[in-house]
Parts: sequence; C-alpha cells; structure tokens
Amino acid sequence: MKQRVLSGIQPSGQLTIGNYLGALRHWVRVSQDFDCHFTIVDLHAITVPQDPAGLREGTREITALFLAAGIDPQHSVVFAQSHVVAHSELAWLLTCMTPLGWLHRMTQFKDKVGREQMESVGAGLLNYPVLMAGDILLYQAHAVPVGEDQRQHLEFTRDLAQRFNHRYGPTFRIPTFFPARTGAKIMGLDDPTKKMSKSEESDHHALLLLDPPDLVAQKIKRAVTDNFREIRFSDDPERAGVNNLLTLYQAFTDEESETVEARFDGKGYGELKREVAEVINENLAPLQARYREMVSDRAYIDEVLRDGAQRASAIADATLADVKQKIGLLAPAAK
Ligand code: TYM
Repeated sequence: MKQRVLSGIQPSGQLTIGNYLGALRHWVRVSQDFDCHFTIVDLHAITVPQDPAGLREGTREITALFLAAGIDPQHSVVFAQSHVVAHSELAWLLTCMTPLGWLHRMTQFKDKVGREQMESVGAGLLNYPVLMAGDILLYQAHAVPVGEDQRQHLEFTRDLAQRFNHRYGPTFRIPTFFPARTGAKIMGLDDPTKKMSKSEESDHHALLLLDPPDLVAQKIKRAVTDNFREIRFSDDPERAGVNNLLTLYQAFTDEESETVEARFDGKGYGELKREVAEVINENLAPLQARYREMVSDRAYIDEVLRDGAQRASAIADATLADVKQKIGLLAPAAK
C-alpha cells in the first residue's frame, strides 16, 4: 500500500514560480510513489474577498495548470475543496476544539492582519488553519508536500490531531511536513528577504507561471543582487538575491550546488541572470503550451473535478462519520 499524500493550492490569482517549485512540481514528482490527493482550496480563497466570477474561473484555471504541470487525474485525485462537503463540516467540528490562543499565534495571520484591521477582517482568516487541518486529516494523509511557509500550519495540524486523539481515542493519522528538496522557499525578486507571493503589489516581485519569456527575462534582469560580485550559495541576508537566483537555477536544472557554483565561477551577475532566465523559460515553455490547450476544454476540466470529488468524498465521508460518532453527535435514524 502506498502512503497517502494531500496538498492544496488557493485559486486566487495566478500561480508564482514559488507555488510551482514549492508545491506543484514537487507534487508531480511524488505522485508516482504516493496515493495523491490534490485540491483547489476555494474555501480558503474566500477568507479574503473574491470576485465570484473570477473565483469560478480561477478554480478551472488552477485545475488546468495542475494537469498542464503533469498531474495525471486518472492516477491522482484532483478536486475542488467545496465539492466535498465534509471539508466545511469537519472545519466546524475542529473549530470547537481549537484553543483561540493557538490561532492568535499563527504568524501568517499576524503578517496578513495589522492591529487596526483586527476588528474588521473576516473570522475565516483567523480560522484558516483549522480548515486546512481538516483538509489533511479527512484523508488520513501520511505526508503533506508544501512550501516552507506552511511549516507552522502543519505543526498546528499535528497538534490539533493529537488533541483530538487524546480526547476521543485514536482517530486521525498524524501527518508529516514534506517540503521539496529544492525550491521550498523562493524569495521575491525585488526584495529577496521576503517570500515570493502572489499578493505582493510590485510588478517585478514575483515570476508568474504563465509569464511570457520576455517578461521573465525582464523581471530577472531587474532582480535585486548585491555588491559582493561573487556567485555562490549563502544564507547571509545581504546575499539573499544571488542565493535566490542560484536556487532558481538549481531547481530548474537539478544540478548539485557545487556544479552550479563551478559553472558560474568567475562570471558576472549579468551572465547569471541571463542563464537563469533561459533555464526558466526552457522549462516553462512546454507547460505553458499544454496549459493553453487544456484551459479551453472546460468540459474536460469539469469532468476531472466531478470524478475527483466523488473519489475524495468516499474517503472524507468515512473519516467524518467516525469523528461525529466519537464526538457524540446522534446519527440520523435509518428509515
Ligand atoms: P497557497 O495557495 O498560498 O500556496 C500553495 C503552495 O505554494 C507554496 N508556496 C511556496 N513555495 C516556495 N516558495 C514560495 N515563495 C512559495 N509561495 C507559496 C505553499 O507553501 C503551498 O504549498 N494554506 C495553503 C493551502 C492549503 C493546503 C491545505 C496545503 C489549504 N489546505 C492542505 C496543504 C494541505 C497555501 O498556502 O496555499
């Protein structure tokens, strides 16, 4: 029996190269060895306001990107989170046993919400990690392939599962954090001390998965570097820009660190940037071409999601029934 994997991506806006290397490409790579469940987390997306038509389209587009990136929907289960009702239900059941203090300690919430906004943001944003924990626990996932920024949410999921198991007896498998070997933390091009994110304002902060080649080259050309004139991997924050470019190069070539450093030995930053843009464009071209073909075939995308929801529900409903029984919710009497 293969071990089970679950992971998800929000359908809010375009995906970045960070989403791709930290999640999507990593998923494709692990999908042969694991029993995989990949979900478009539309219920997470609505923790901040969304344009309804944009959200619907975005959900289809992300599905098309999953497929274009190489996820095989015959093999892996691909579904929209809101199509499997158990996600909303388990989120409520888990909410009732989540200490508020745990939620207030989540750094992503604190980063997103300033003090003055605390009164007005939707409660869903605070509760976001509980919904995410439910996503994972419903499938009894062994491992969760996500980027570095999700580490704390995974810890939270483990703590919550343990709390439930302790109170009601063994119910949930305790999942492990499963980051990609390279690319689990891609930084912003304009500020390499910040994670690359789709919600940043600046137009040269993030590389998007569907950026055309000339735009990729332009963004990389403008990427912040330093005055050291030395091309090597480093965890010195002052060298974070060059380190990030090398990480991108390594992620797209799969070369060892020493090989990458040797390749750029004695070369200038201009050359590094040209080569980084080149390997990115070479790798993205086939994905972008497949995406353009896929995305117009709505009937196929809808069929993939319908089939995925059915397969996902079979597992999720069984876990949910067990949870409700353990908590003491009376099951409706059979007719
Ligand atoms: P989202 O949509 O914000 O991010 C999706 C995935 O992309 C990874 N990621 C990155 N990896 C490397 N470098 C970056 N700069 C970068 N930016 C984003 C994220 O780590 C993530 O893996 N909360 C999740 C969605 C979610 C989920 C789940 C994930 C909901 N339920 C259950 C796993 C299991 C999120 O951040 O989505």
